Amino acid sequence: MTSQELRDKFLTFFRERNHKIVPSSSLLPTDPSVLLTTAGMQQFSLYLSGKKDPVEEFGNRHLASCQKCFRTGDIEEIGDDTHHTFFEMLGNWSIGQDENGYFKSGAIKFAMDFLVDELGLDKNNFYVTVFRGENGIEKDEEAINIWLEHGIARDRIIECSAKDNFWGPVSNIGPCGPCSEIHYDRGEHLGCNRPDCGPNCDHCKRVVEIWNLVFMQYNRNEDGKYELLNQTNIDTGIGFERLLSILNESSSAYETDIFEGMIKKIEQSSGKKYKENKQAFRIVVDHTRSAIFLAGDGVEPSNVGQGYILRRIIRRCVRYSKMIGIENSISLGDYIFEKYDSVYPELDGSKQKIYSVIRAEEEKFEKTLKSGLAILEKQLENSKEGVISGEDAFNLYQSYGFPLELTEEIVSEKGFKIDKVSFLESLKKHQDLSRSGAEKKFGGVGKDAGEEGAKLHTATHLLHAALRKVLGNHVEQMGSDINVERLRFDFAHTQKVTPEELKQIEQLVNQKIKESLEVKKEEMALNEALDVGALAFFKEKYPETVRVWTIGDPQASEYFSKEICAGPHANNTSELGTFKIIKEESSSAGVRRIKAILIK
Ligand code: SER
Repeated sequence: MTSQELRDKFLTFFRERNHKIVPSSSLLPTDPSVLLTTAGMQQFSLYLSGKKDPVEEFGNRHLASCQKCFRTGDIEEIGDDTHHTFFEMLGNWSIGQDENGYFKSGAIKFAMDFLVDELGLDKNNFYVTVFRGENGIEKDEEAINIWLEHGIARDRIIECSAKDNFWGPVSNIGPCGPCSEIHYDRGEHLGCNRPDCGPNCDHCKRVVEIWNLVFMQYNRNEDGKYELLNQTNIDTGIGFERLLSILNESSSAYETDIFEGMIKKIEQSSGKKYKENKQAFRIVVDHTRSAIFLAGDGVEPSNVGQGYILRRIIRRCVRYSKMIGIENSISLGDYIFEKYDSVYPELDGSKQKIYSVIRAEEEKFEKTLKSGLAILEKQLENSKEGVISGEDAFNLYQSYGFPLELTEEIVSEKGFKIDKVSFLESLKKHQDLSRSGAEKKFGGVGKDAGEEGAKLHTATHLLHAALRKVLGNHVEQMGSDINVERLRFDFAHTQKVTPEELKQIEQLVNQKIKESLEVKKEEMALNEALDVGALAFFKEKYPETVRVWTIGDPQASEYFSKEICAGPHANNTSELGTFKIIKEESSSAGVRRIKAILIK
């Protein structure tokens, strides 16, 4: 099935069922608190919250669309089977109730009719997830019963926590609710074969989410409280590329009509094989498409906001194109226009303008790429212990336009890394680091720890305790990663952390650093550690005897933090310097990610 056929089938299906088809909105949302459009419901938020009447605007409360979306959180994952920066989302909505409105059973019936009857998917390959109940909201028995009525086996109905099955709001405030997702088992050959493999598996992508049905009943208000909406809504979203690849029995959308023509063209002009260079090919075709769509919505490359995203995408694309040996990557863009200009009218007739925006940025970068790469080669030759100094990386950024992430990628391919702490210091000397600027410019991964690592471990415990104090005890560690320059902490929390909350958290950590608290290690049996209230996650992984780290007096009833951890740690919080959060973002459904650094 081609992409156009699938799009048509979906929209026709809902048109025939009395839905009004609404064109996609721009990738640039009207809500200034959100950088880019990440879901189909965004253009309908005022209707979903009951502030506007959809019937007045659209003549119908049942709507469907194919929406342009863009997510940057996964940019480092591009190249795998299931992630894209730009993607399309198919969705249907029932906004507010009248005698024609539908809710859970209507939405589930439409989903089953479309996937099984219309597209011919085998429902025995489905898993569905439902909200298991949490925070005063009950388990979704109603949804369980409806799925059973549609012939989904009980052991294929998985009850999940709010982290996975409570959706939204997009920014901090707005409509949200429990959801139920349809996941598709793509087959054993793509799996980890663990007994607990299924939806949201941490080890493989055998089972992928294809359709999210949100039962919107709540509004998160300015105080962070959930209040019942005066109306119920259905908000659904299908990952278009994922569904297309499943229908074509291909392991990824890169092997469907969307990208195949481009990939063939790259093979012909470069003499390289896609199969042997999958990641680079995929990055080039993904980024070519996303750059065209961003520029098509009027974004121009710059050093802030959406412009920085476009700049980073174009420069990354140029570099990977050069790696493969494609000289004129823009000619690939013609495929994108052929595929999409009848779907998205804003592309039609704008080709020359879009090309000139992208071309200008490519040229700017190409001018310095060669000399920058030569300099980087020298730096790599001269580098001590596999580390590029922050000053050198900053020079590449400042004089040759190398986004830090790009330099990082190049050096890590050679097994090197960048001293990001000193990069930051150099950057700080040159510009005033605004939080939003920092958020966009620093990301990435590294591998090592050491003395800095010990301090960052301790900072992670302080952050964890501060998060629980400011946001509540539902905050649970979901993951942690430390390298020489920064800590990264993933935790269960369903909403974006507000700038005020981030400030409070940062202040609390810095206050504890100033208090010069001792960091004490004790060894004890796991049971004993749990009895004294030490935080423990992934309990099954701990040995019988564990180390418990207390920040504050371990004998006193009031300590700031107590956690089971293998360490290493600083001896006293005063060694840490100043704690700064550089980024807060979504990591996956219901999980937020904070990146933070220590400045000497
Ligand atoms: N808003 C939901 C999502 O983005 C359903 O469309 O997943």
